[in-house]
Amino acid sequence: MKRTQSSDALLEVQNLAVEFRRSEDIVHAVNGISFSVERGKVLGIVGESGSGKSVAMMSVIGLLRSNGTIKSGSALFEGKDLLRMSQRQLRHIRGRQIGVIFQDPMTSLNPYMRVGDQIMEVMLEHHYGTTKQAFDRTISLLTELGISEPRKRFRNYPHEFSGGMRQRIMIAMAMACEPDLIIADEPTTALDATVQMQILDLLKRVQKQRNMSIVMITHDFGVATNFCHKILVLYAGQVMEVADTRTFISNPAHPYTRGLRNSVIELGQRGRKLEAIPGMTPTLTSPPTSCSFADRCPLVSDQCRVELPKLREIGEGHLVSCHRAEEVISHGY
Ligand SMILES: Nc1ncnc2c1ncn2[C@@H]1O[C@H](COP(=O)(O)OP(=O)(O)O)[C@@H](O)[C@H]1O
Ligand SMILES: [Mg+2]
Repeated sequence: MKRTQSSDALLEVQNLAVEFRRSEDIVHAVNGISFSVERGKVLGIVGESGSGKSVAMMSVIGLLRSNGTIKSGSALFEGKDLLRMSQRQLRHIRGRQIGVIFQDPMTSLNPYMRVGDQIMEVMLEHHYGTTKQAFDRTISLLTELGISEPRKRFRNYPHEFSGGMRQRIMIAMAMACEPDLIIADEPTTALDATVQMQILDLLKRVQKQRNMSIVMITHDFGVATNFCHKILVLYAGQVMEVADTRTFISNPAHPYTRGLRNSVIELGQRGRKLEAIPGMTPTLTSPPTSCSFADRCPLVSDQCRVELPKLREIGEGHLVSCHRAEEVISHGY
């Protein structure tokens, strides 16, 4: 495969496949996905739990668990393939050029270290300025991220902060070396709705001001459409649909995407979480040979059960892997 990178893509992932070894079988977690993240833009990766969102992004930055293997693919970041780098090279890029924010700050923060020191440490580890500069920058990051009395808060430990405030500390750490890209893996899932909005607004503001790229991983279709420029829908480790956000709101072409969208509307109307789409996600113990969504799809046909739908372009920048996408759009299922 030819490996070139389009000019405004900061990260370009091609044909990524990841498997895990388990005692009895193999889990085909990511099955040949391709996508790009443009400079200064936010890409949303959406799908139910277990669809391969975290595995896809973590494998790109070298944080795959030891029983996992990258079976194929490339991930060009500023022209260099991350999948062919050593752990040492990747450690250098993580934190310096690519910042990462996880769902639960408590597992990522050191409980015994003052938060200010933890933010400073990111910069010192990457030789990003002198100690004095790292300190000043920590104070200004805390201020920018809405933490009042930053000099006092610098000396606090993680347990002295609320969940939302801890997530702000994580954002400060991710931003410390002014990376070009931030990967945010369900950064607001553990927070209540009001704090979630505050954190997303904050991320959006700093993303715009610094013209950063973000990959926002979320199971929440509403978060994705509010926050992202472009959205990638994953299901069973495959790309179901990609388009800009406007297309996703007005004209999603995959029955799975329609299901995700409808669950958000119902959530708003009834004020409680309903099961998004009836049925279960497939086990991933064999590679897909037909449509993985067939068993849950309201539009399933015989073809869907025997033929794997290819990802194909149905509009400008609008890709979908569904045999019946045209009908979905014209009938508005
Ligand atoms: N270390 C592992 N060993 C075996 N299976 C794994 C491992 N990590 C993830 N998986 C499986 O890979 C699939 C994708 O997981 P993940 O990317 O974490 O989903 P999500 O979309 O919720 O982030 C799931 O079926 C999950 O059970
Ligand atoms: Mg995940």
